[in-house]
Amino acid sequence: MRTKFIFFSGKGGVGKTSMACATAIYYADQGKKTLVVTTDPAANLSDVFEQEIGHKVTKINGIENLYAMEIDPDKATEEYKERCLAPMRELFDEEMLKIAEEQLSGPCTEEMAAFDKFIDFMEEDSYDMIIFDTAPTGHTIRLLELPVDWSRHIEESSKGSGQTCMGPVALIQESKKKYDDAVSKLRDLEQTDFIFVMQPEETSLKETIRSINELKEIGITTTKIIVNGLIPKEEAINPFFKSRYDMQQTYLSKAKDIFNNIPIQTMELFDSELRGLEMFRKVARRLFEGSDVHE
Ligand SMILES: Nc1ncnc2c1ncn2[C@@H]1O[C@H](COP(=O)(O)OP(=O)(O)O)[C@@H](O)[C@H]1O
Ligand SMILES: [Mg+2]
Repeated sequence: MRTKFIFFSGKGGVGKTSMACATAIYYADQGKKTLVVTTDPAANLSDVFEQEIGHKVTKINGIENLYAMEIDPDKATEEYKERCLAPMRELFDEEMLKIAEEQLSGPCTEEMAAFDKFIDFMEEDSYDMIIFDTAPTGHTIRLLELPVDWSRHIEESSKGSGQTCMGPVALIQESKKKYDDAVSKLRDLEQTDFIFVMQPEETSLKETIRSINELKEIGITTTKIIVNGLIPKEEAINPFFKSRYDMQQTYLSKAKDIFNNIPIQTMELFDSELRGLEMFRKVARRLFEGSDVHE
């Protein structure tokens, strides 16, 4: 079976990490070897799983088949630089290496590095499921646009000067193939799911509309939306919660109207913090067994 990729995207604080982890636990419990990896520097998988994780694939305690990793942007940049410089060390003298090193110190390198790490996982075939908990939307979409941009840039340069901002075309043809493969996997509905998480509120709805359109522009289809944090109907009994409940229901209906061709799932607001395996199993049951519908 080919590895399946699931991306969770959305504004900060809407529940991406929580929904990504609940999904990962669900698949691991089904016997699928699952990796959850976060590209969001603000994410905290260690809190969710109550154990140290960090910049390495870590087996999660107390559950079979589940692994996690938190990508550290600084470490990813170091690794990327080293990967670029290593083959040059044997070919070039000190001075040339210094120039190469300097060229690899810009902000563009960080972007490339984060992306390169991410592509590594898209090439990985030792998991059944890889779940990406991504940084807030703008950043993620930029990351996903890169292979499209670069692939085009490499192609155009190969017809013209033979030079690219990444070096001579001949040396990076291999990378072009890598980017093309990643893009085709991202666009393949059989292999990749793209899920947006949003709160039933105006700002979150607007952001979701914008991001879904941006993804569409680069040929990626959103496969599901999770509207998270809904106050359960039976709790909407005092004026404060009733008013908030009504507001949320209004945005839920708007979302259903606007995204009428995308499946929408709802997730209720829980009365406690989401923490530890058992709590996330409960969230997963709501997600996958559909007992969360409050309509
Ligand atoms: N349905 C929910 N019920 C209760 N708390 C939630 C729910 N969804 C998320 N949370 C809490 O809200 C906070 C933000 O969620 P998180 O998943 O970290 O969001 P994001 O990854 O989008 O920033 C966390 O403390 C999480 O435990
Ligand atoms: Mg998060």
